[in-house]
Amino acid sequence: QVYPDSELASVAVARQIADLIRDRAAEGRPAVLGLATGSTPTRVYEELVRLHREEGLSFAGVVTFNLDEYFPMPPDSLQSYVRFMHEYLFDHIDIPAGSVHIPDGTVRPEDVSEYCRRYEEQIEQAGGIDLQLLGIGRTGHIGFNEPGSGAQSRTRLITLDHITRTDAASDFYGEENVPRRALTMGVGSILDARQIIMMAWGEGKAAVVKRTVEGEPTDSVPATYLQRHPAVQVVLDEAAAAEL
Ligand code: GLP
Repeated sequence: QVYPDSELASVAVARQIADLIRDRAAEGRPAVLGLATGSTPTRVYEELVRLHREEGLSFAGVVTFNLDEYFPMPPDSLQSYVRFMHEYLFDHIDIPAGSVHIPDGTVRPEDVSEYCRRYEEQIEQAGGIDLQLLGIGRTGHIGFNEPGSGAQSRTRLITLDHITRTDAASDFYGEENVPRRALTMGVGSILDARQIIMMAWGEGKAAVVKRTVEGEPTDSVPATYLQRHPAVQVVLDEAAAAEL
């Protein structure tokens, strides 16, 4: 789906999420959302906050699971995804604190694999993810599934790609301050969602969008595995779609 600009695209995505939340509420079931960070979804979150404030959209029955977090990363740090999600979304809506799940960047290294197993278990116990939101990194990562991540990969600790750390450098006041590792849901965990929306804006994403949509599925561009999902939408502005 190609929109003239990211503003229109974001509003359309937010409306789709709102429809899902209302449908689930009408059925008396929670809506389980998989959420992403980065600059791409921020306008979607702002629109959801507006719908909450102005149209009474309630998140009381919503359960969320975030894709990833830097590692190590204290939750109150400026660059943590915990802080990001609270700033853009959770502090402004009526979601119960216990319904929010974000990978914990303070887990002890020796506890990481057990922690990741439990994160997957919690998703399963919530009934699985209804709708997974995704951005895409220039390396072709979804979540932090860098090149080399297989289609079956699950939630785990990964090593960040050099390009990803370069892209994050300004957030951390220098590449040397960007963590070398991150916790991320796997490609396989993402593909388990019932529905997926991958968004990309701007000319900087045009090349990786082309590889994702038109290339053969491969570990070297993990986002290409989205082609195997039966219900995925790729939502783009014109600049990100320019090479298709
Ligand atoms: C980070 C996040 C990804 C996100 C990517 C793109 O690496 N972990 O989930 O998709 O950045 O970032 P942006 O949306 O700022 O381009």
